[in-house]
Amino acid sequence: MATVIAVTNQKGGVGKTTSAVNIAFFLAKAGKTTLLIDFDPQGNATSGLGVDKQKLEGTMSEVMTGKSTLQDIVIPTKHKNMSLAPATPHLANTEVELAQAEQRFTRLKKAIESLDDYDFIIIDSPPSLSLLTVNGLIAAQYVLLPVQAEFYALEGLGQLLETMKLVRKNMNPGLDLLGVLPTMMDSRTTLSNQVLEEIKKHFPGKVFNHPIPRNIRLAEAPSHGVPVGAYDRFSKGSRAYKAVAKEVLDRVG
Ligand SMILES: Nc1ncnc2c1ncn2[C@@H]1O[C@H](COP(=O)(O)OP(=O)(O)OP(=O)(O)O)[C@@H](O)[C@H]1O
Ligand SMILES: [Mg+2]
Repeated sequence: MATVIAVTNQKGGVGKTTSAVNIAFFLAKAGKTTLLIDFDPQGNATSGLGVDKQKLEGTMSEVMTGKSTLQDIVIPTKHKNMSLAPATPHLANTEVELAQAEQRFTRLKKAIESLDDYDFIIIDSPPSLSLLTVNGLIAAQYVLLPVQAEFYALEGLGQLLETMKLVRKNMNPGLDLLGVLPTMMDSRTTLSNQVLEEIKKHFPGKVFNHPIPRNIRLAEAPSHGVPVGAYDRFSKGSRAYKAVAKEVLDRVG
């Protein structure tokens, strides 16, 4: 069975998509068959992998409304072992459509269960505690929580942890926090280091050993339609995500 990891934080712009894309890339590079599910109507993971959204035959919207299976809409990427389930802004309408639908919380889980086997499935969640995010939490065994190393980093996390608790209690008792990943670290600044200490204090034993540095290459790579490892593999950002992917492999055993 695939190991399913939801990359989740309801705060916007903390590095969810960057983490999901680059960790998926390095898991694939390590020989693990990996499916990245773009589960955000912004479709950033889809465009960041150079996919033309106009030309898609199917997206996560059709999967969520039951018009397509996940199998039908998965496309290969330029990278060996790495596939993508794309998303477009249409997924936002789908979410509204599903508001009263039956089994609306378990649709992603069902879709994943009917899928041919992958070693890893990485879900890029939207910046909200929405129906989509909850579907991700119910479908996943693990949450990977990116936290931006800035002053407000921990604000709002209580709400996410509360949601995880509810999901565990009602739908998915096995849901586990895989780890907290500090992102956009600037280790030269006192603030970044203070926040890192704060994060470690809040999540003892859960913080990844390789915080992601602020690195321009990480921000540039999506405009070239590739993960950073295929854009500048010697950059600090690339090396950091490679190390985190290795830690992910260690942590899931
Ligand atoms: N370590 C980093 N160094 C520099 N820039 C980064 C880094 N991580 C992410 N970025 C940039 O910061 C912005 C936000 O990152 P990203 O899109 O990954 O966050 P997100 O949490 O997925 O956002 P959203 O909540 O909107 O989905 C992007 O422009 C991205 O390229
Ligand atoms: Mg994103």
